[in-house]
Amino acid sequence: MMLTGKVAVIYGAGGAIGGGVARAFASEGARVFLTGRHLAPVDVVAEDVAAGGGSAETAEVDALDERAVGDHIRSVIDRAGRVDISFNAVGLPNAGILGIPLTDLDVEQFSQPIAAYTRSYFLTARLAARHMVPNRAGVIMTVTALHARTGIPLVGGYGPAMAAKEALTRDLSAELAPHGVRVLGIRPQAMPETPTIKDAFEPRAEASGATWEQWQELLAARTHGRRLLTLEETTNLAAFLASDRASGMTGTTVNLTMGSLDD
Ligand SMILES: NC(=O)c1ccc[n+]([C@@H]2O[C@H](COP(=O)([O-])OP(=O)(O)OC[C@H]3O[C@@H](n4cnc5c(N)ncnc54)[C@H](OP(=O)(O)O)[C@@H]3O)[C@@H](O)[C@H]2O)c1
Repeated sequence: MMLTGKVAVIYGAGGAIGGGVARAFASEGARVFLTGRHLAPVDVVAEDVAAGGGSAETAEVDALDERAVGDHIRSVIDRAGRVDISFNAVGLPNAGILGIPLTDLDVEQFSQPIAAYTRSYFLTARLAARHMVPNRAGVIMTVTALHARTGIPLVGGYGPAMAAKEALTRDLSAELAPHGVRVLGIRPQAMPETPTIKDAFEPRAEASGATWEQWQELLAARTHGRRLLTLEETTNLAAFLASDRASGMTGTTVNLTMGSLDD
């Protein structure tokens, strides 16, 4: 197993990607500390991990709240002695972000995802790094989207938010890698099996001129393999990147768009 003995903290662990990453890390032997804004969905993931023979502990943590993130990470250190992996999988609700033309968008609505996504990633990364640097080991990770690198209509500040997270991944790595801490992002293709993607499609459905089924076909047609990415493929990659087998990788966001987006 690739993550035996590793201690991992996951933010947004009740979500599709956070929950999948939790299951993948635990199945590779990590002890996972799962957090979310609401406890109930995080507890469901923890039950799955336990049913699979893994070790998971849960806590309600608002990943935008500096004190809450700090108190939680200290509690992880108290219980497990260290933190090896921090994964920020937080995804904000789409209301007020998607489906509105930029020319009609209020500046506060535009700025909100940029401020919130970068704040959450910065906070979780910085607080983890403060514990990782003295150990000269650790991996800080997050997830972004195609919007970071290509123009997509009616997504408000979401694209700039994703681009900013990718820039922060590079800058964190430039400062932390000399201290043994790797920093990595994953940029998956949209995975329609996750509820997020239908939620994101609906406010833009009329403008897209496609039905949900047609849109999924279009998404698949844009990949070199002419198929959709699965959540399992994304979380398998996350587990590999978090492991020592990926020790040469830092300061980058892995392009998991299956050919949809050229490097
Ligand atoms: N799904 C995809 O195919 C895909 C592809 C590429 C990129 N992405 C991006 O990856 C990220 C995660 O996607 P996802 O599909 O896993 O989304 P998701 O299922 O909606 O999960 C997001 C999670 O973040 C939690 N959250 C929101 N605000 C929080 C806060 N302040 N503190 C702590 N937790 C918070 C949510 O908790 P509550 O429900 O309790 O609010 C939810 O559990 C998003 O940025 C998404 O755009 C997704």
